[in-house]
Amino acid sequence: MEDAPGPDIPSVRIRSAVAADLATVVEIEFQSFSNPWQPDTFRSLLEQERVKVLVAEDLEKGVVGYAVLWWVLDQAELANLAVRTDRQGQGIGSVLLDQAIAHAESKGVGSLFLEVRQSNEAAYRLYANRGFTQISIRKDYYKHPREDARVLVKHL
Ligand SMILES: CC(C)(COP(=O)(O)OP(=O)(O)OC[C@H]1O[C@@H](n2cnc3c(N)ncnc32)[C@H](O)[C@@H]1OP(=O)(O)O)[C@@H](O)C(=O)NCCC(=O)NCCS
Repeated sequence: MEDAPGPDIPSVRIRSAVAADLATVVEIEFQSFSNPWQPDTFRSLLEQERVKVLVAEDLEKGVVGYAVLWWVLDQAELANLAVRTDRQGQGIGSVLLDQAIAHAESKGVGSLFLEVRQSNEAAYRLYANRGFTQISIRKDYYKHPREDARVLVKHL
């Protein structure tokens, strides 16, 4: 399932992250979120068994996005997903999400969960396009600024 070119973006491939990717991943993380994960968090995730960190790599420009999936038994969470600001809207987030879903399926996951800021319409549309549906709201889940989370699920 890895090293798969996206249908509309042949210059981008999805692969597992390695330590050498983390500086760029963290750079995109800080560009994308007001309450970003720290470098140590990404470093420790690379070593864990039930975690998959995927990167989208542009053959010329290097890492342009990433996704973090973790799972326990038959449930998984898409814990993080981001695409470099200047490469958004080109289908890279969709390809990363598709590969994360495929990886969850390969691990026997039945339900894939995620949280998304109530105001994050771009991400919500991406998830809705891929069959995620809202199951609840987590009040004041996010900080900087404080905001509710929509909890979404996709049954695999
Ligand atoms: C959310 C995110 C990962 C989407 O990645 P992307 O590569 O831009 O997504 P895609 O190009 O694959 O677009 C997927 C869908 O998202 C929506 N979308 C993408 N950019 C959008 C924008 N600027 N405004 C509104 N909708 C947008 C579209 O509905 C699109 O579906 P379409 O194919 O029907 O047009 C990206 O915008 C991002 O990194 N945002 C900041 C970090 C973030 O919010 N992560 C999600 C946390 S839950």
